[in-house]
Amino acid sequence: MKGIILAGGSGTRLHPLTLATSKQLLPVGDKPMIYYPLSVLMLADIRDILIISTPTDLPQFPRLLGDGSDYGLNLTYREQPEPNGIAEAFLIGASHVGDDTAALVLGDNIYHGPSFYQVLADARATLDGCVLFGYRVGDPSRYAVSEVDETGRLLSLEEKPEHPRSNQAVTGLYFYDNAVVDIAKNLRPSARGELEITDLNRWYVERDRAHLVNLGRGFAWLDAGTPESLLQAGAYVCALQERQGVRIACIEEIALRMGFITSSQCHRLGARIGHSSYGQYVMAVAEELATA
Ligand code: G1P
Repeated sequence: MKGIILAGGSGTRLHPLTLATSKQLLPVGDKPMIYYPLSVLMLADIRDILIISTPTDLPQFPRLLGDGSDYGLNLTYREQPEPNGIAEAFLIGASHVGDDTAALVLGDNIYHGPSFYQVLADARATLDGCVLFGYRVGDPSRYAVSEVDETGRLLSLEEKPEHPRSNQAVTGLYFYDNAVVDIAKNLRPSARGELEITDLNRWYVERDRAHLVNLGRGFAWLDAGTPESLLQAGAYVCALQERQGVRIACIEEIALRMGFITSSQCHRLGARIGHSSYGQYVMAVAEELATA
């Protein structure tokens, strides 16, 4: 399975925070926002990952993450010249996906929850068409809203409906079979001029090939697209990390636990930023797992 992180957009709801930097590089707690969606793909055991951003912001991402080899990943980068919609990720990423299956995650979506690794592994194992991930929210009109039957089969999908049929939002993580590239090629822009991910997903719904995995109430799904939600996400991460003494979305730790890197490689990554408590944590994890 190939991964794509869409980290585009001009982040206008966060201005002036995003006038000179990418939204997906803003801090959420103790790390840049993109660490969170990157962690999700890594937990799904995906190592070939394409990062898409605007022409202005794109160069910042390889400065942060390089070619990914430090983390046992293969990272590549492509521009999205205009904000033409989420589904355009599969046109920009067509050659990256090749004849493989694909996972797309939005660069400002933050997931945290029990056994997420297993949830992702199960979704991969049962993928037939597409798998979407649903989450109950109080304000469904802000999202794509789903209706499912008792088996999780999607019956309908609506983008930002005025009168939502349920409280079940479709979150920004999507697993697809290889048909996704051709479906994206045949999409037409919506009234707002974008290639809509919900139109793409509807193709699968109409053919009974879309499944929704419900992330239950023990999960946190946060987005960080406004100053308030950015602060809330950071506060959530800091509160849990401090209480438990473990870090959320620590890509070095995940790379080690997933077997992408060795404990000595992990230790070196920590030492490189060893003046920070994040770096010290990475070194401590490496030491703990080396002797485990
Ligand atoms: C996008 C999608 C929407 C999805 C949401 C999840 O909305 O269009 O279907 O529910 O991401 O974050 P946007 O954040 O672009 O308004």
